Amino acid sequence: MSNRTFTMIKPDAVENGHIGAILEKINAAGFKIVAMKLTKLSKERAEKFYQVHSERPFYGELVAFMSRGPIVAAILEKENAVEEFRTLIGSTNPADADEGTIRNLYATSMGENAVHGSDSDENASIEGVFHFSKEEILS
Ligand code: GTP
Ligand code: MG
Repeated sequence: MSNRTFTMIKPDAVENGHIGAILEKINAAGFKIVAMKLTKLSKERAEKFYQVHSERPFYGELVAFMSRGPIVAAILEKENAVEEFRTLIGSTNPADADEGTIRNLYATSMGENAVHGSDSDENASIEGVFHFSKEEILS
């Protein structure tokens, strides 16, 4: 899945009414949506998704945040998708995110930072499969 990445519009951005604006930015940046759904992570599913961070001090806070409300999950396609999307969303901490990036525009804090973007081709694939069945992903 080297030309694909996985994203979530996180609960803060959904609560604040930014789904449309964020999808607009994603489209304007040339990504094609190949799978998408509005869903909600249970505490258990959020724990599993962020398992890699389980030893971090903010893990409990992260799991509570990610399971507190609806999210939009999507698989996006573009050449060099993982890197291009990380550039589009900006730094984890919105205070450090470049002007015009999604986190610069819509994130409120390090924890509540509006969107997720996969950090490698391998994780993009794992995360896509975590959220979507084969039938839900366009080939
Ligand atoms: P994702 O795209 O969501 O994976 O973010 P990232 O790759 O930019 O950051 P990272 O994978 O290091 O951290 C995952 C998520 O944990 C972040 O997006 C934040 O939501 C959360 N997080 C990271 N650091 C902190 C922190 O210091 N405090 C809190 N509350 N949350 C944090
Ligand atoms: Mg990450």
